[in-house]
Amino acid sequence: MFNKDTFENKLATSWLGRSLYFFEELPSTNTFAKKLKEDGVLHGTLVLTDVQSRGRGQHEHEWIVDPGQNLTFSLVFQPGNANRLNLLTLTCALSVKDTIENLTGVDAQIKWPNDVLVKGKKLCGILTETVFIGNKLDRVVVGIGLNVNQQKFSGEVLKGATSLKIETGVDLNRESLLAHLVQDIEYKYRLWSQQDAELLKNINRSLVGYGNWVSLKVDGNQLPGKFKFLGANNNGELIALNSDLDVKSFAFEQVRVVSL
Ligand code: BTN
Repeated sequence: MFNKDTFENKLATSWLGRSLYFFEELPSTNTFAKKLKEDGVLHGTLVLTDVQSRGRGQHEHEWIVDPGQNLTFSLVFQPGNANRLNLLTLTCALSVKDTIENLTGVDAQIKWPNDVLVKGKKLCGILTETVFIGNKLDRVVVGIGLNVNQQKFSGEVLKGATSLKIETGVDLNRESLLAHLVQDIEYKYRLWSQQDAELLKNINRSLVGYGNWVSLKVDGNQLPGKFKFLGANNNGELIALNSDLDVKSFAFEQVRVVSL
C-alpha cells in the first residue's frame, strides 16, 4: 500500500505536490483532476491513487495496471495559456527518464509524443488534457502512469510492457521514487516556462529515432518517402527533413513516427 505520509515526508518541492489529493482507490486521477471545482485547484496540485479502476490512456484506450504496484497520478498546472503544451508533456517524459536513470541506472528513451520506453518496451505513458472555462485555459492535467513493481502486463496498451522491477530485478520504494520525480518535474517545469534551449536539446536527444530516417503518419495517413527525425522546435512542432533535404514542420497532434 502506498504510504501518503512517507511520501509527504520525503517530498522536497516548494510548490509541486504541496496540494495533494490521495485516494486508496479512484476511477481515474485525470478525470478527478479535470472535474475539480475551480476553487479546489491550485497550480501544482497532485492527484494520486494506489488503485485506479478506470485509468484512461491515449485514443480512448484503457490504462489497466495491477493495484498497489505502480504509480498512477496527475499533476495540475495553471500556466495561463495553452502554448507549447506538447513540450510540457515531453518535459515530464524527460523527468521520468532522468529520474529513473539517476535512481536505478536504467536507460530510457522518449517515444514521440508521450511515452517512455526501455529497450523498446513501454515503461510509462502520459496523458495530457486541458480544462477551458469559456475560451480561457483554466488548467492542464498531466496524467502519468509509471510501471514500477508489476511483473506481467496485458491489455491493449500495456501488453509486452516493462517495469522498473522487470529491468532491475528489485522492488522499488514508490514513495521515494515519486518524491524524486515530482521534484525533478518542478525543476524542469521552470525550464519549460522559461523556454530553456538546453531543455529542448535534452528532450530531442532522448527521442527514439532522433536523427534517423523514419516514416511519418499525419492524421492517420502515411506520408510518401522517409524523413530525418529532428524532434521538436521551440513551438512544439515536429521538425523533419525530407529526402530532398527540405525542412518540414508538423503540428504535434497530427503526427506519429511510425517506423524506426
Ligand atoms: C498512454 O500511454 O496511453 C497514456 C496513459 C496515461 C495513464 C495515466 S495513469 C494516471 C492518469 N490517470 C488516467 O486516467 N490516465 C493517466
